[in-house]
Amino acid sequence: MENAEERAWRAFQEAFEGRPVLRGRAPGRVNLIGEHTDYNEGFVLPIAINRSVWVVARPRPDRRARLVAADFGESAEFSLDDLRPGSLSGWPAYPAGVAWALEEAGYRLPGLEAAVAGDVPIGSGLSSSAALEVAFAIVWIALGGYTVPPLELARRCQRAENGFVGVRCGIMDQMAALFGRRGHALRIDCRTLEVESVPFPAEAAVLVADSGVRRALAASAYNERRAQCEEAVRRLRARYPGLQALRDLTPDQLEAARPLLPDLLYRRARHVVTENERVQGAVAALARGDLEALGALLNASHESLRTDYEVSAPELDVLVEAARAVLGVCGARLTGAGFGGSVLALVRREAVAAAQEAMARAYTMRFRRAPTFFVVEPEEGATVTREAEPSR
Ligand code: GLA
Repeated sequence: MENAEERAWRAFQEAFEGRPVLRGRAPGRVNLIGEHTDYNEGFVLPIAINRSVWVVARPRPDRRARLVAADFGESAEFSLDDLRPGSLSGWPAYPAGVAWALEEAGYRLPGLEAAVAGDVPIGSGLSSSAALEVAFAIVWIALGGYTVPPLELARRCQRAENGFVGVRCGIMDQMAALFGRRGHALRIDCRTLEVESVPFPAEAAVLVADSGVRRALAASAYNERRAQCEEAVRRLRARYPGLQALRDLTPDQLEAARPLLPDLLYRRARHVVTENERVQGAVAALARGDLEALGALLNASHESLRTDYEVSAPELDVLVEAARAVLGVCGARLTGAGFGGSVLALVRREAVAAAQEAMARAYTMRFRRAPTFFVVEPEEGATVTREAEPSR
């Protein structure tokens, strides 16, 4: 069967005469732990995964972008001269937003013809949108003849999503897509944007189960969570005047200031503050190769997301519970923004089949349909290459 890279290549040849000159690949990610901490300037621990978005492209002498999406059988066209936030919706908003954000920073881009395809499941919490942004960003920047540090590209892609698409996401997904390292997780400090790679133990597998649940209002619920965190910081300044972000609080400091917060905001803040501590614990557990300790932190993260942050869903809870009951499963939690999407289970390799079976059984019994499973491996971050022949 054709892989995503080959699909992109073929779609290009069918849509445009001749050949592409560049090929960009950007991976999706699974966040091991550190959920809803990135926009609070906290810590995250994602892996880039062996599922990617591919873009093959060539420049145009004018300022028009002509795009085809092989996986949707759709095309889109726009001019770089009239990009305005909100002027495009659906998948074309991501490449358009990237071009808009790059030009806003002073990079003058050429028009292009491009085809895109991917095997990152869409809307499942594995960051297909960041992969799409980053794949277009690296290709467009290369066509423009620029060399841009990956940190700056991550910021520009986040800007595209915040300012053009309208989701106030943090920077984790774009960082993971750019800085991924095979066999490693990435500890990212979302304030300083320092990235440290932490070896991921070979005996552990990351099993992802996609519930198939897609919540239409996920973007507005996400933005609402972010606003609640900002409101908590504003109120907490009555006691801690220099407070920049929830990242700056210890759990004890938050307890001491509890009377300043209505219960809802207190619980939102408690999730973030305790989750940051869990990330630090997870990094230490990984360094010791202590899968049980890591798993316990994943479990605690899910509980906190379910009860304090309220971003889980019954479908995710059923998958998580079923996984945890299996011998060889160290821990399980929802991954990504939540409100549907996927859970991840940290599983000893020999127990993957049993975990999958138990999750499928429990899920099908309760919801009368099956989840989709992927075992993902920590993979390298985004790359752009000339000579766009498919590499297989
Ligand atoms: C989405 C956002 C990220 C992050 C996660 C939650 O994936 O794009 O920036 O906030 O949700 O951890």
